[in-house]
Order: sequence, then C-alpha cells, then structure tokens
Amino acid sequence: MALPFPILTAEEAAEMIQNGQNIGFSGFTAAGAAKAVPFALAQKARREHEAGRPFKVGVLTGASTGKSLDGALAEADAISFRTPYQGNPTLRKQINAGKVKFFDMHLSAVAQQVRYGFLGKINWAVVEACDLTAGGGVVLSTSVGVSNTYLRLADKVIIELNAKHPTSLLGLHDIFEPRDPPGRSEIPIYAPSDRCGSPICVVDPKKIVGVVFTNLADESGGFEDPTPVTDQIGQNVADFLAAEMRAGRVPNTFLPLQSGVGNVANAVLAALGVSTDIPAFEMYTEVLQDSVIPLIENGRCKFASTCSLTLSTEAMEKVIKDIEFYKKHLMLRPQEISNNPELVRRLGIISMNTALEMDLGGNVNSTHVMGKMMMNGIGGSGDFTRNAYISIFSCPSTAKNGMISAIVPVASHMDHSEHSVQVLITEQGVADLRGKDPHERAQIIIDNCAHPDYRDQLREYLSLMDKNIHEPMSLSMGFAMHRKFQSTGDMRNIKWSDYRD
Ligand code: COA
Repeated sequence: MALPFPILTAEEAAEMIQNGQNIGFSGFTAAGAAKAVPFALAQKARREHEAGRPFKVGVLTGASTGKSLDGALAEADAISFRTPYQGNPTLRKQINAGKVKFFDMHLSAVAQQVRYGFLGKINWAVVEACDLTAGGGVVLSTSVGVSNTYLRLADKVIIELNAKHPTSLLGLHDIFEPRDPPGRSEIPIYAPSDRCGSPICVVDPKKIVGVVFTNLADESGGFEDPTPVTDQIGQNVADFLAAEMRAGRVPNTFLPLQSGVGNVANAVLAALGVSTDIPAFEMYTEVLQDSVIPLIENGRCKFASTCSLTLSTEAMEKVIKDIEFYKKHLMLRPQEISNNPELVRRLGIISMNTALEMDLGGNVNSTHVMGKMMMNGIGGSGDFTRNAYISIFSCPSTAKNGMISAIVPVASHMDHSEHSVQVLITEQGVADLRGKDPHERAQIIIDNCAHPDYRDQLREYLSLMDKNIHEPMSLSMGFAMHRKFQSTGDMRNIKWSDYRD
C-alpha cells in the first residue's frame, strides 16, 4: 500500500530544518543512525555559511553516530549543541576547542530528561526505520536509542526508510517507555529475554512531514586486531569471574553480562566466550559488538538484550541471513530500558567497562584526557557501574607507548567513584577492591595493576603518605605524574620532592 506521506529527497527534507532548531536523531553508535538527512543538512549548512547566514542546530541522539551524521555536521560547522555522547574526531576537536557545547550525560537518563523538558524543545525527529505503516507504525532498524521518545515528543518527524535493513527486523525490538514520576511503576523485566513493550513505535501520522527512501549500510567501523595486552586483559577478566563462581559469590548459573565499547571490551567478550570455566551466559547490555555473534551461534551466549547492533557489515549480513534464529536470541530496547538502573540492580548485572585512568583510591576516569580534553563521554558506563552486582573496569596499564600510566595517584577527572568501582583489571592483574580500606586499595592496585615501569614510583608516593590519615592522598603530589607528562611527555622517573609542598 502506498504511504500517505510526502516522499522527499534528503535535500528537500533538510531544507525544512531551520537554523537554531533541535533535532532528535536515531542512532546508538553508527547502528541505526539517520544518514541521508543529516548529510544533506550539512550541505545546506555549508551553503548558508557561504551566503553569510548562520546555520547551526542542536543534535540529540542515542549515543555516538556515524560519519554522515556527527562527521558531516561537524565538518560543516553546523552543530551548536550536542548530547549525550560522541566519538567523532572532528566533533571532539570542536568540543575541546569550546566551539560546540557538549552535555555529557548518563545514557539511561536522556529520554526522561527530554520528557521533563530539561533539554529544551525537540523540533524534529529524524529517525531511520526499516518499515513504516500508513497509521504511523515505525519499525526501527539496528538500534533504538531514544528514537521512540523523539518520535513521540518532536513537533515534526522525518523518516529515513532504509532498504538496506530488511522489514524482517520486525519482532527484534521491544519498545517500552515508563511513565514519569510521581506515576512511574516498575519496569516488568525480570530476565534479559523478557518482553514488556511493543515491537514497533507508534507516531501520530499527522506529524510525519516526509519519508526519505535510502539504501545505506550502517557506518560501523571494524575492530583492531587483538594484541597480547588486550588478550591478557580478557583472560584476566575471565579468570576473575571463574574464581568468583568457584568461591560461590557468583551463582553457578552465572549472571547477565554488560560489556562496554571498544577494542578492550571486544577482547574481554572473546575471552569469556572460550573460557571453559564460565557457563553459557546471557547479556543485558547497551552495545552488541562483533565478538558476540559467534558466541550466539555456538550457544555460548544464550540471549543478548541490547540497545544497538554495532556490527561490521559482514557480521550484520550474517544476522540478516539468519534473522529468525537471531530473533530468538537478540532483543533491541530503548536505552532508557537497556541501561535502566532499576533493571541493572534487579538482574544482578556484571558490568565490564573501560577506563582511561584509574587512581589509587579506586576512582575511574573514562572521559577526560589529562582532566581537560573530552574523549567520548560517560556513555552507559555509569548506569551500569553504579548499580552492578559486580562492577569491573579494565584497561591497558599504560598508554602512548608507556609514557602514560593508567594508574595514577589521583585521577584527573572522576566519572566513577571508589563507592561504585569494585574491581580493576589490567594486563598485569586484578585488584579486587571490595571491603578494602583506602591504604589497602592503593597497595593492591599498585601491586596487581600498575605496569612494572611505574610500580616503584607509585610505591614511593604511597610511602610518603601519612598512615594515620584515612585517605592516602596528597593535594600537592596527587597530579604530579600528569604535570610531569605535560612538561616532559613522559610520566616515568618522577622525583616526588620536586612536587612536594
Ligand atoms: N591518557 C591519555 N590518553 C589515553 C589514556 C590516558 N590515561 N588512556 C588511553 N588513552 C588513549 C589511547 O592511547 C588511545 O588513543 P589513540 O586513539 O590516539 O590511539 C585512546 O585513548 C583510546 O584508548 P584504547 O586503549 O584504544 O581504549 P578503548 O578503545 O577501549 O576506549 C575509552 C577506551 C575509555 C575511551 C572508551 O571505552 C570510552 O569512551 N568509554 C566511556 C564510555 C563507556 O564506557 N561506554 C560503555 C558503556 S556500554
């Protein structure tokens, strides 16, 4: 049946969007991100700028997106405000140069903050779908993000109907939006595979001002090959979890896993997949990366609830080819549900996220290089960490060819505090911080996680602290390693007396 909506080119759709408006785009990573309209909008911005007119928009999404959205708009200097997460190099530079206002927020909170009116008016929802009905039924594509809320709240809606994603994706999604306080009740999910919502979003058809037909693959990048360091981190995580099971602290039926983004996270899951000590498991997570697909195929991962399928083209083709099989093992949810603190606590999720730096108190920085420069954003790491059954952070013990230690006296920015972080893991080993006091924590982090090049200097720092004071931390020397890096390009061989008051 022909759709009763105007069929537009991406350029015609972009023409309707005005300078200063806020757009809620689909996309949680590059998966399911709007592509054609933001790309055309970037071209419009360039034309407006050439004509001497201002043109910038507020960009709200699920999380990071692809090159046609964040990439194209940032390169066209067309973004005034961005939330909640990004990972694009050009946009990152603009944020760090103060040219784009970036609001870094917990991903589970985006939809409700939009509903509460905290983030301003949503003028447009630009959402990718694989199918659309005349009555406004929208079958989303490879992610959900905040699309259901943007579709409901935006003044006007543009749908990118992407033929690259087959209509057979219907049934993969579970769309549920809680009511707002004081009327909110529990979210009825008691196991990762529970379904509580609808397979489609429903939008008032009068708001749909146009449909843009596309045929574009998701712009998800591949992964770097595992290295001995990432393999060892993965092995350490698997060994730690197996030991927790043997000790009876994790039930022998195991608990659902959440896994973060990036190469380390991919390696950790690969290691868990082949571990003979870990039983077949379920996942309740926000991003599903390539490493999980073979685990679903071979039965090691029994079910994965996620917010996005962040897969390479090859892995996505595999899923589509055998979609009916995958529908029994995969579910896509809004990030308000995939990352929901209530559910993370109820399901007993084991969270595994990645850090930039970890300090001797057990605090974690996931976002700001040297405390100042935004990397990507906190993403969902806080949603999971704060509420997890066991919260794990891992990362290589050094960065930049060993010039930077990931273990520092005091983190230069704090995303996850000692009160939420339970276990730190590097390729060197595991620091289990549960039940430890600050002096014990500092010692075990140095002994088990710091790189050998940094252990002695960190031990020396610790030896300079007063044993009779609760927290072994120095206001004058806490950032000495960062300061040394900034002046010499290397954190090693520090002389603490140069920094002591
Ligand atoms: N200081 C400066 N740079 C550092 C650093 C430090 N302490 N630690 C790492 N880096 C650099 C690396 O050298 C690398 O730089 P490059 O891109 O120039 O090569 C970059 O940071 C990424 O590090 P890498 O080791 O490749 O990590 P990753 O791909 O696993 O990503 C995070 C790590 C922390 C950036 C990423 O996981 C993230 O953005 N996390 C926050 C959001 C999140 O956790 N979401 C998950 C919830 S599902």
